[in-house]
Amino acid sequence: MTEKDKSIYPEAILSIAKKAKHIGRMNGPDASAYVKGPCGDEMEFYLVINKGQIEDVKFYTDGCISTIVCGEITADLVIGKTLDGALGISPKQIKDKLTGLPQEKSHCSILAVTTLYRAIANYLLKP
Ligand code: FES
Repeated sequence: MTEKDKSIYPEAILSIAKKAKHIGRMNGPDASAYVKGPCGDEMEFYLVINKGQIEDVKFYTDGCISTIVCGEITADLVIGKTLDGALGISPKQIKDKLTGLPQEKSHCSILAVTTLYRAIANYLLKP
């Protein structure tokens, strides 16, 4: 976390990034996806799915603080949900939980949710 990050983000957001517990990669997930955003940030999502329910989630990103916190909140929201329930999560829900997220970083929530959707689609559309 840089001095610049500390000047851009409120403490509540920095704290979510510091304590992020869902960040990391997963071996042998039931579903996964990778998306590169137009800004160049990359996001990966990994899901453990049992009887249509998401039991565990990890995400990985090389992106900025904003991308990390959007991934973390998305992962937090999705654990325990059915696949249908997870598809009801929106970028706005993520943003609403991140008071003080700079407006120009709104697209990070879209990247996180898009990657989640793609992981679910990869699972549901598996031949
Ligand atoms: Fe582009 Fe976060 S700055 S996804």
